[in-house]
Amino acid sequence: MATNHKKNNPKVLIIGSGIAGLSAAIHFSEFSDVILLAKSSLDEGSTRYAQGGIASVWSKNDSFEEHQKDTLEAGAGLCRESSVEICVTEGPSRIRELIEWGVEFTKTANHSDYDLHQEGGHHQRRILHTHDYTGLAIEEALIEKVRKLSNVAILENHMVIDLIMEGKLKPASSTEKTSHKNLGACVGAYVLNCETNEIFPLASELTVLASGGMGKVYLYTSNPDVATGDGVAMAYRAGARVANLEFMQFHPTCLYHPSAKSFLITEALRGEGAILRNEAGEDFMKNHHEMGSLAPRYVVARAIDMELKRTGAPHVWLDVSHMNELEFTEKFPQVHSMCLKYGINTPHDKIPVVPAAHYMCGGIQVDEWAQTSVTGLLALGEVACTGLHGANRLASNSLLEGVVFSKRAADRAREYLVKHAIPSAPKTLPVWDFGRAVDMEEQIDIAATWREIRTLMWNYVGIVRSDRRLRRARERLALIRHEVYADYWKFRVNRDLIELRNLLTVAELIVECALRRKESRGLHFNVDYPETLPLLAHDTII
Ligand code: FAD
Ligand code: SIN
Repeated sequence: MATNHKKNNPKVLIIGSGIAGLSAAIHFSEFSDVILLAKSSLDEGSTRYAQGGIASVWSKNDSFEEHQKDTLEAGAGLCRESSVEICVTEGPSRIRELIEWGVEFTKTANHSDYDLHQEGGHHQRRILHTHDYTGLAIEEALIEKVRKLSNVAILENHMVIDLIMEGKLKPASSTEKTSHKNLGACVGAYVLNCETNEIFPLASELTVLASGGMGKVYLYTSNPDVATGDGVAMAYRAGARVANLEFMQFHPTCLYHPSAKSFLITEALRGEGAILRNEAGEDFMKNHHEMGSLAPRYVVARAIDMELKRTGAPHVWLDVSHMNELEFTEKFPQVHSMCLKYGINTPHDKIPVVPAAHYMCGGIQVDEWAQTSVTGLLALGEVACTGLHGANRLASNSLLEGVVFSKRAADRAREYLVKHAIPSAPKTLPVWDFGRAVDMEEQIDIAATWREIRTLMWNYVGIVRSDRRLRRARERLALIRHEVYADYWKFRVNRDLIELRNLLTVAELIVECALRRKESRGLHFNVDYPETLPLLAHDTII
């Protein structure tokens, strides 16, 4: 930890090093000492895999009103309008900032301006991108900048196990169960060094959860392995309000191939005219939505699900044959080379695709400044529920949300931490108490239970739901909970066990939210309540 921390600077703990955590580190470092934690390497997380790009009003033909309208329409009546307005209107400034920080977005052929993509649900071209590896370009530029900041200490391969709550400041023990009552403010976190398995407390005046999504709770997902819902699970255990977890977004087009793990086929291809076809070669999306293959994501994912069930086929096809080879390889080099690796020669060959869990629209409920319902705890990026996405996220609005809210969080915190004298972080925190926990002999049970949860979520809590299947999922998860918690108290914790416990918690929260919504809206479709009811246009809060 090479740092230049000043004695009286406030200490801010940032958990996560995707676009949200990295941009927050840059802003917060202007007035505080930052410790930035990542449970894997610094660059690993959903951000680096983002392909399509980042949405913002950039062209003269576009307007804030139109971006807001598309976001609200995609959100199916559940967006918080103030959050939509904030993200859309503050977007262009944040994009300019990313450019200043070194992100190189792709320019038009004559280099006069940035090239803009279009994706599902957008009625305008407004997606800035770096070819089809936008996330990687952003992640690398931000990491380079953060590594140069002398008051940001970076801890890679360090995983937060739980938040430390003021109300529990007595010797912590892995044999104690948590209660949601009187937990008070968040004053730090217990951290596991994933290489040595050592556990230590870190104190902070402010803790920022930027720990990303929870796609790994489903068997098929576009998400990387780190997306195990740790942030939502930890915040829930700390007594924070979580919301709208029934709205898991399934991306319509992930590569279907037995050896291809989680590879996304960007929606920007459909923005360039690619067409979804069934086995018979029909453009089936025409029968589902006036925007055809470019309809909002949940419409496309559900239509594919129907098509697969109707025909019994294992996948549908994405037809990209209208593009010539040069155009394709220039615009989508990553998709081209990945497909080629699996014997698919784009644009000549059609790409086999299936839907997969992609993005959690709900999360830890926050206000317009990223403040959660717990004092001292902020949430940013995919882990947060700002209200921007409502019941379905508009494509490429997620990276935007991450940068917009990290700046707002820092602006407000600067006022809060610097102008007002707030109590400083506790000087000492109780060490982690292993109680009578013993080392685990084998990891087989963890892997098997992990797979059981993910399979169950895919089968019972997927794109199309019913009350019967949701209740069955709830019962099975309750049984699994007994086993997992027994292991959690019995064995010395390690990364796999911590992730399993978090995955289980978020699975149960998703099912609970889904059971509470007695209608279908956006991403949540329940055959027992197929209508969208205006009276139920409110958040599901736990
Ligand atoms: P992430 O980038 O996921 O980072 C999470 C961080 O938290 C990681 O550093 C991880 O190590 C850390 N972490 C997690 N748990 C812990 C813990 N317990 N302790 C310590 N650290 C922890 N969105 C768009 O807007 N445009 C796109 O084109 C786009 N394409 C996508 C393509 C793919 C394949 C995927 C998966 C997502 C895509 N998305 C896209 C969504 C978007 O990429 C993510 O929502 C966004 O990057 C999330 O950023 P984040 O900073 O919140 O989290
Ligand atoms: C994509 O490139 O299709 C993903 C875009 C997104 O998830 O916003």
